[in-house]
Amino acid sequence: MNLHLRNPLPNVIRCLVATLALLMVGQVGAADGMDLAVVSGCFACHRGAGTAIGPSFVEVAKKSVDQKIAAEALAEYIVKGTGPDGRGWLKEGKAVLPFMPANNGVKPKDALRLANWILATKGEIPDLAHYVTEHLSISGSVEHPLKLGVDDLRRFPAKDLREIAVASQTPAVVGTTEKLKGVSLGALLNKAVMLSPGNDMRKVSIVVKSSDGHLISFSWCELFNSPIGDGVLVYFEKDGQPLADDEGRLALMSTRDTHLLGRHVRWLKSIEVRVIAD
Ligand code: HEC
Repeated sequence: MNLHLRNPLPNVIRCLVATLALLMVGQVGAADGMDLAVVSGCFACHRGAGTAIGPSFVEVAKKSVDQKIAAEALAEYIVKGTGPDGRGWLKEGKAVLPFMPANNGVKPKDALRLANWILATKGEIPDLAHYVTEHLSISGSVEHPLKLGVDDLRRFPAKDLREIAVASQTPAVVGTTEKLKGVSLGALLNKAVMLSPGNDMRKVSIVVKSSDGHLISFSWCELFNSPIGDGVLVYFEKDGQPLADDEGRLALMSTRDTHLLGRHVRWLKSIEVRVIAD
């Protein structure tokens, strides 16, 4: 008897908990998909709703459902691009480029997550604000750890403040140049004063991280004993404007690399000096 009385209540609670858990998973899933799309660079060309360089994700979802294109097929386009003939979005007036280039950095498993997120999208607008960094720390094997904001960077001596013109990294304006203003990474590291046992700087590497978990590195030799070094800029202005949420307020680019996108760090958060152990 007691059992009969007791059981219904826990069941209701269990049901509620299960429903809540499902709802939460659903929400986290949507946010995850959005975050993944942001860090995979998809919003450089796509919008949730509205045509950009590529079709809006809402339109992609609609066409995929109409034409019964499965998530797996979309995932393949995401990784490999849509090939030289494209999928016709340009002809339909819903894209600016005739095809999507391969998204090289995207793993097949993430592409499938992106595809499923796109199929369920309601045209969400990415909230990039939570990636934006206002300060950058320089730490690790240094005499003076630093925490620098845009105003601190502006106060660097004129000889360290640089303006470097680079080929535009935004596909919409291919062929144009952008002027980045900032301080060279070398000057920042000199201010922090790097330390290495026995003063052997050849064992020093510099690890650069962004707020979305992106990580790249430089070697001391590359920065201070090669033509690349002078072109590594921690920048805070583009074409005379503060950096927008999609980059900023602080970013870094190695402007003399062969492929500029390779070492372009948006939402710059920290620079750590490490000494490689033997
Ligand atoms: C350089 C710009 C660019 C980037 C970056 C880009 N896309 Fe695209 N994408 C396009 C264009 C242009 C099209 C339309 C191409 C066509 O008609 O073949 C497209 C089409 C698509 C399609 C539709 C394929 C179909 O079935 O018709 C999907 C899905 C897609 N993109 C997802 C993504 C995802 C996810 C990312 C991020 C990993 C991404 N795209 C990054 C430009 C881009």
